[in-house]
Amino acid sequence: MEAFLDFLANIQWWVWILIFLLLIAIRDIFFQKAHTISHNYPIVGHLRYWLESIGPEMRQYFVANNREELPFNRIERGWIYASAKKENNYEGFGTDRDIYKHQHIFIKNAMIGFQAPENHPNNEHPCFLPCAKVMGAYNKRKKPYRPASIINVSAMSFGSLSAAAIESLNQGVEKCGAYHNTGEGGLSPYHKKGGDVIFHFGTGYFGVRSRDGGFSMDKLKVLVDENPCIKAIEIKLSQGAKPGKGGVLPGSKITPELAEIRGVEVGEDVISPPTHKAFLTIPELLEFIESIAEETGLPVGIKGAIGKIDQWKELADLMKKTGKGPDFITVDGGEGGTGAAPPSFADHVSLPWTYGFSKIYSLFMEYGLTERIVFIGSGKLGFPGKAAMAFAMGADCINVAREAMMSIGCIQAQVCHTNRCPAGIATQNKWRQNGINVPLKSDRLAQYFKTFRKELLEITHAAGYEHPCQFKMDDVQVNVDDDYLSSDLKSVYRYQKENVEFDSMQHLFDCKHLGGKPALEKTL
Ligand SMILES: Cc1cc2nc3c(=O)[nH]c(=O)nc-3n(C[C@H](O)[C@H](O)[C@H](O)COP(=O)(O)O)c2cc1C
Repeated sequence: MEAFLDFLANIQWWVWILIFLLLIAIRDIFFQKAHTISHNYPIVGHLRYWLESIGPEMRQYFVANNREELPFNRIERGWIYASAKKENNYEGFGTDRDIYKHQHIFIKNAMIGFQAPENHPNNEHPCFLPCAKVMGAYNKRKKPYRPASIINVSAMSFGSLSAAAIESLNQGVEKCGAYHNTGEGGLSPYHKKGGDVIFHFGTGYFGVRSRDGGFSMDKLKVLVDENPCIKAIEIKLSQGAKPGKGGVLPGSKITPELAEIRGVEVGEDVISPPTHKAFLTIPELLEFIESIAEETGLPVGIKGAIGKIDQWKELADLMKKTGKGPDFITVDGGEGGTGAAPPSFADHVSLPWTYGFSKIYSLFMEYGLTERIVFIGSGKLGFPGKAAMAFAMGADCINVAREAMMSIGCIQAQVCHTNRCPAGIATQNKWRQNGINVPLKSDRLAQYFKTFRKELLEITHAAGYEHPCQFKMDDVQVNVDDDYLSSDLKSVYRYQKENVEFDSMQHLFDCKHLGGKPALEKTL
């Protein structure tokens, strides 16, 4: 035995390597049947798989230029990171964008911009920028709500995001007076850290689900009664990345904590069907909205990605006839994000934000309904310039999902669907999320939102306005094509936005329905 061990010990290190490679080659040729490349090119074939797996990172770090990556390029990501850290987010030497490129937008500045008078709220609170409309005011809901921030956290559930990420977002919105949309996974303890909440549910009715998988009004009433942080309710019809696509939450992922929050059984597969059980038609949807608003007293809205317009038309028609309807409509763009979606859906189903929103807004305008509705936009709008365009088109608020994730450390690894998020954000892996420092990350989210509002206000003032709700379609120009170079949004989308009733920023500041109060007590 000793002689044998001596023999092994005397083998040179490089011989061990050769033996190891030989074993891999034998396995590649004779035992594995799955990969032709490894069979035909033993050992070296593995290099191909390895290089392919690290390709995205290599391109991101070394190859891609500042403006070429999608969904968010390096300049966009860098702006969010720097804004969130309160670092220098300026650029030197002028823009590096081709400003003659198709679809590039220009906001028209005034000859002499807006100057805030003495005692203007923005002198003390330079980042104070609430929504100009009140959710639920027209429909006289018992508890109307004016979002205290025009930028807010879009629907992302506990389940698709980690507990630490949800907690960071919630503490963050509390610090800057914004709201936090729960996403489809129910109201978790991590959503209850002080921020205003919009409770969102989809076809799975998680958190308000009856035993047979339907919607339970009783559960919703209890939830709302027990959680005054819930300021409004959003019914998800669809989202831009996967409209009309249901989902399966595998039983293996359903921990006791998730089961409790979502109202499902531990270990059993849960199916979210593509459509709702609670309503099948537009009149039924309208009734459903009204019954929720009546039972809870809260403003109720719907979220949808836009494709065909006929059912939206039916809704507008019915709203006009009945005087009822949703208090807010969230329009999600086809470019929107998701935890997981088939590429065929993410790439091709539903219209991009500008096309979809312009269709919906102009439709509701035709019916004279725009002042009843708070229009919320989502789909890569978390940048002040793009937000100004959205306001010019009729948006009253912006929701951001991936931009909010980036502010708390997301590096756009694009592996949300694998549970292996390196930043601990889109994962349930405990070790990965332990890297998130919640107080620090919540400061970052808050700082990103504040910087965003401050810069949007500065753009607004440069255009001669006090509040972005005053932007009109002809304040923004877009490059449309080579022979006509550029045109204002009014000519491109063929409507003019309705005036939003706006008195003054002081009036918004004094509004008794203004949310995010604790944040207002500090300087914003
Ligand atoms: C990780 C993740 C989870 C999401 N979960 C939901 C969801 O539960 N319900 C929903 O309506 N939208 C969901 N979305 C879509 C976002 O709310 C948002 O509409 C979309 O990403 C567009 O915003 P963005 O471009 O700022 O990311 C999710 C997006 C992401 C990235």
